[in-house]
Amino acid sequence: MTHPTPLTMGQQFGRRSWAEPWKIKMVEPLRMISPEERAGALVDAGFNTFLLRSDDVYIDLLTDSGTSAMSDRQWAGMMLGDEAYAGSRNFYHLEEAVRRFYGFRHILPTHQGRGAEHLISQVAIKAGQFVPGNMYFTTTRLHQELAGGHFVDVIIDEAHDPEHLHPFKGNMDLGKLAALIEREGAAQIAYVSLAGTVNMAGGQPVSMANIRAIRELCDRHGIRLFLDATRLVENAFFIQEREAGFAERSIAEILLEFCSYADGAWMSAKKDNLVNIGGWLAVNEDDLFEELRNLVVVYEGLHTYGGLAGRDMEALAIGIEESVQDDHVRSRIGQVRYLGELLTDWEIPIVQPVGGHAIFLDARRFYAHIPQDEFPAQTLAAELYLDSGIRSMERGIASAGRDAKTGDHNRPKLELTRLTIPRRVYTQAHMDVVAESVKAVHDKRDATRGLRMTYEPKYLRFFQARFERL
Ligand SMILES: Cc1ncc(COP(=O)(O)O)c(C=O)c1O
Repeated sequence: MTHPTPLTMGQQFGRRSWAEPWKIKMVEPLRMISPEERAGALVDAGFNTFLLRSDDVYIDLLTDSGTSAMSDRQWAGMMLGDEAYAGSRNFYHLEEAVRRFYGFRHILPTHQGRGAEHLISQVAIKAGQFVPGNMYFTTTRLHQELAGGHFVDVIIDEAHDPEHLHPFKGNMDLGKLAALIEREGAAQIAYVSLAGTVNMAGGQPVSMANIRAIRELCDRHGIRLFLDATRLVENAFFIQEREAGFAERSIAEILLEFCSYADGAWMSAKKDNLVNIGGWLAVNEDDLFEELRNLVVVYEGLHTYGGLAGRDMEALAIGIEESVQDDHVRSRIGQVRYLGELLTDWEIPIVQPVGGHAIFLDARRFYAHIPQDEFPAQTLAAELYLDSGIRSMERGIASAGRDAKTGDHNRPKLELTRLTIPRRVYTQAHMDVVAESVKAVHDKRDATRGLRMTYEPKYLRFFQARFERL
């Protein structure tokens, strides 16, 4: 019997193959526990993948946060840590890297992104003010609310439709933003909060045209514009790929132009910037910086370390430089896309177009028979773990929390399960294993039942909530 000639992955999808721009120098063994052990671990974890032990996980796609593999250069940099309490040389390297690649003038290190979110929210929001943003992010919105602000979602409507193929689904709707300013008055707008890419919308980008227009509107009303820079490098890739006039410009050039329209940014360096811990806050205004520099000593540490060891700041400075290299970004997003191509070919419902850091399974369509109040996305995360030990994350009704006024669940249009790909960690073969597991769970979807929440924490409930099967 003759066998058909196997096709490479590139051939299967009608394109030339790409390969990761790195080779492996050190490996970390993976272990897969038995199906019976996984069933026990899931019950112990209250059907919440955040409560699993990582030793019980096979392929960990919970998050791309702090899960990157550092390079040999970054590890070498760790040995150059200057652990002085004040004025560590590594701080100055970090400051130089943020200035060079993001273009902001004043920089404060923070222990991670939410440390920076806390500081900027406390300083830039007055109680009762509004904070328009392009879809909420869990920790960002909570810090804005804790500072007395009201978050208002002004993302374009297409972002709430998982099947819409808009190339820049992270864009703000200028009409919605202008209407809010008109209704409340410019003085009641704390600042505009723009994230690129938009995590909760499926890692969707913001166009350069959009940020230019937002800047103009802000200038007309004297309103500040701050960026959530967590995945801005990935955002720059989509601008290079999809927006007219950017194909010949490097990721680094696009990133710098994008940031030039903002007054500052907060950063979870655990994502784009390729470190396991760290963050930063950057602003251009001198007075604002002075206030922030004063507050950072209360919550994070002195302004030249902000909760980070010298060695961590060194790894971060090097990570920033590596993160903007075109080859790196192309292969990082290419790997996410490859998983997306497999699932799309098998007609598994996912958010389209595929975004930068993750595949978002559309749990509403995946489990059409499970009502949103029975946590379809949480159920899907649990089923994937049972099938193969793959860990994913709910991004639906559990993540959305409750309405502060009515106490009822917030019911987001998007009910998603996120398969988040860590940077430089897994190979294409791991993506094949993941895709096959999603397919196996999809094949038996009709027999799957939803969940009931049995324990609900007050803040950011998705992290620690517990569930049982209905
Ligand atoms: C878009 C975005 N902003 C902010 C944060 C918060 O950062 P951290 O987890 O470092 O506190 C995250 C983390 O997931 C994020 O994805």
